[in-house]
Amino acid sequence: MIGALRSTVGLVSVGAAVPERVVTNDEIAGRLDTSDAWIRERTGIGERRVAAPDEWASDLGLAAAQQALDRSGLAPADIDLVLAATCSPDAYFPSIAATIADRLGAHSAAASDVSAACTGFVYALVSAATQIQTGLAQHALVIGSETLSKIVDWDDRGTCILFGDGAGACVLSAGALPETVFGVELGADGSRGDDLIVGALRGRNVIEMDGRAVFKFATRVMVDSVQRVLDVSGLTVDDVDWFVPHQANIRIIDHAAKRLGLDPARVLVNLERYGNTSAASIPICLEEAWADGRLKRGDRLLMVGFGGGLTWGSCLTEWAGDGPKGAS
Ligand code: UT7
Repeated sequence: MIGALRSTVGLVSVGAAVPERVVTNDEIAGRLDTSDAWIRERTGIGERRVAAPDEWASDLGLAAAQQALDRSGLAPADIDLVLAATCSPDAYFPSIAATIADRLGAHSAAASDVSAACTGFVYALVSAATQIQTGLAQHALVIGSETLSKIVDWDDRGTCILFGDGAGACVLSAGALPETVFGVELGADGSRGDDLIVGALRGRNVIEMDGRAVFKFATRVMVDSVQRVLDVSGLTVDDVDWFVPHQANIRIIDHAAKRLGLDPARVLVNLERYGNTSAASIPICLEEAWADGRLKRGDRLLMVGFGGGLTWGSCLTEWAGDGPKGAS
């Protein structure tokens, strides 16, 4: 699916939450045949956060959503829709979105989870934006929340070094922007499903991945999807203020940035500290850029994700929120 609309729907606030516990590369290297040097060189990751045994995707998602809601100035009752992207939910059902909506007090909201693995946040954002565009909803909370540490095989050095836990959330509102271009590409190739899978119902309850195959897919699709969304939106890379890529591997991000001719200063990157937090990585990056004052109202953002499915998605919009209190 690809297209560009004129829209006034905008991202007005962002929040994030990560678990307290830090697991360094050296800690993993103390148990497995790997090293800090190998992990940094091959992935760019230095450490990741790991949830406590009684800390779940709904807990992290709630904290991120509460922060985004507080920063939006809206009341829980103003929220019409809660969409949570996750591939590591607390349970098959209920959805973490329903749990989060209840705990927030958003009792008039529709709530459901979105399953598109690491692309989930982009899928959920597009879904929420288009539901607002139709007039069915005015304000939506879009959350990406993961506790991947609970579904990682901690004896598999090819995967356990990559993933981390965390959550990010955005409030999306009608009429938040002057009419501007909202460009989208969402895709899926189910024939590649086994390349990245947690087959719980088939008896394997941990992440299994063909790392090289996913790497090749990711480097190709990031470049192609960004280019297609720019083309359909009638824009070029120079019109974009911030590229917000899914944080899977610094080599994937660097490859895409180079091929697209992006200024590295315009690419948001934080995987050194959090690893790959799947559906949470894009909103956590956005939150950091907002909190340190980089993200300004009217800045054009291009978010791009890829992951299990295999899925991919790009979304081009503008930041519609105010800066942090006290920022100039
Ligand atoms: O959100 C989307 C999901 N995932 C991704 O985007 C991941 C995409 N893939 C990757 O990031 C990379 O493929 C990895 C980081 C997973 C692996 O890096 P690579 O450069 O593709 O390594 P490789 O799989 O080709 O393995 C090279 C060697 C192998 O040893 P041999 O067969 O050459 O002797 C692996 O066994 O590196 C070995 N290896 C490791 N060595 C030390 C694999 N993992 C490790 C490790 N430490 N943690």
